[in-house]
Amino acid sequence: MTSKEEIITKTRLFVKKELENEATGHDWWHIQRVVNMAKNISKTEGGDEFIIEVAALLHDISDYKLNNGDEKKGIEKLETFLNEIAISPETKEEILNIINGVSYKGAGVKEETLSVEGKIVQDADRLDAMGAIGIARTFAYGGNKNRAIYSPNIDPKIHTSFIDYKSSTAPTINHFYEKLLLLKNRMNTKTAKKIAKERHQFMEDFLTQFYSEWNA
Ligand code: NI
Repeated sequence: MTSKEEIITKTRLFVKKELENEATGHDWWHIQRVVNMAKNISKTEGGDEFIIEVAALLHDISDYKLNNGDEKKGIEKLETFLNEIAISPETKEEILNIINGVSYKGAGVKEETLSVEGKIVQDADRLDAMGAIGIARTFAYGGNKNRAIYSPNIDPKIHTSFIDYKSSTAPTINHFYEKLLLLKNRMNTKTAKKIAKERHQFMEDFLTQFYSEWNA
């Protein structure tokens, strides 16, 4: 019988190896921050700690952004790993549902209904897309994808389909209006809402300063 600690250790090693050299802001440090934040949120919001930790560790493994746009390949990789660890089919299903539901798919795209554990992992992941770290990650991603920093001639868009959202090549500043500034009102838990408020204000202040320098 494999203990829960052994499963977590095995999962950590797998994710670390997969994402260590990732250069779009979805690296191993992002995963560790999300795991820590999810555990912190769960202290006041509840949920099954084991499910939260495993799902938070694996939440980006199948993401299209990390699989050359091929989400199917990512899901296969994730399922292969889940079949290798000693968890019940029900637990596997629960983890898969969380991972499939957490990702942001566009401002106008309806979100999936999540379990308590899913809501916590989603909040933790979204908090890492906000504030100073969120800003740093967004520009790292934009640079990696050859996007411009800003263009006053290109307006932000409210994407109504996931395909539309993920194929965007808009300047990085637009991403604030297409995702980052919308996250504050999409937090699930009370604990995350409080943290989001502060990080949101920091991004607003950053943008104010950015435009004042741009127009100086
Ligand atoms: Ni993530």
